[in-house]
Amino acid sequence: MRKILISGASRGIGKAIALKLYKEGHSVSLGVRNKANLLNTFIDPKINSSQKIVLHKYDASNNKSAEEWIEKTAKTFKSIDTIIHCAGILKKTNLLFNDNEIKDIEELWKVNVLGPWILTKNAWKYLSKSKSSRIIVLVSMSGKRSKSNLAGYSMSKFALMSLCQTMRNEGWDKGIRVTAICPGWVNTDMAKNVKDFPKDKMTQPDDIANICSNILELPNSSVPFEISINCKLETTNLSQ
Ligand SMILES: NC(=O)c1ccc[n+]([C@@H]2O[C@H](COP(=O)([O-])OP(=O)(O)OC[C@H]3O[C@@H](n4cnc5c(N)ncnc54)[C@H](OP(=O)(O)O)[C@@H]3O)[C@@H](O)[C@H]2O)c1
Repeated sequence: MRKILISGASRGIGKAIALKLYKEGHSVSLGVRNKANLLNTFIDPKINSSQKIVLHKYDASNNKSAEEWIEKTAKTFKSIDTIIHCAGILKKTNLLFNDNEIKDIEELWKVNVLGPWILTKNAWKYLSKSKSSRIIVLVSMSGKRSKSNLAGYSMSKFALMSLCQTMRNEGWDKGIRVTAICPGWVNTDMAKNVKDFPKDKMTQPDDIANICSNILELPNSSVPFEISINCKLETTNLSQ
């Protein structure tokens, strides 16, 4: 069983992954800004005193919180062999953004790129000890192609994909395997304003949780680096 750190576990994809992996018997350490969303679920430490759950404050724009969360987890679980990066934000900043939107671009950079980078950096010494650590990153199809006019979001996800490739290179000889998961729309709060595609036809958070669970069962020789998931056919004409 693994000792797993999951960011963005308060809602959406991160929460679905946390529930699935905890039920399977893994130890899960959840980094959240707001603990209220976990209340009354069985990963709420108030109703579940299992030693297999750590709940810690984590805000991607606060490097100290990343450091403290990692150290607390390593101390409680005695090791960390998996990180699943789910914290992320979407801003609709386009190419010709207004002056007051520069702060949105900076926030995208901080949460979507620096956040996972700094968490991984702080956890590296622990990940390096196991000969089969895993890093799973929720990238996006927006990290593979730039569609419509989401310049800021797409820029952050392309950068995140590049970070995944570097983590893979650096971690390979230590047995660290990296998987970049690249979905189109997933039915969470992030997609709640999508009007032109039905929610029940989107990829569901539980489907991503199943994929993560499968990745964790694979040996070093078989872990996929990239998983693209479309809920809607994309033609080669990416301007559509
Ligand atoms: N939904 C989609 O269609 C879709 C598609 C492709 C990729 N993705 C990616 O998948 C990941 C998860 O998305 P989701 O759909 O689960 O989104 P979501 O439901 O909006 O959840 C986002 C999560 O990120 C956390 N978060 C946001 N800002 C943070 C910060 N500054 N520090 C720490 N945590 C922060 C949120 O915590 P709070 O509860 O505290 O706000 C929440 O737990 C994201 O990286 C997203 O880009 C999503």
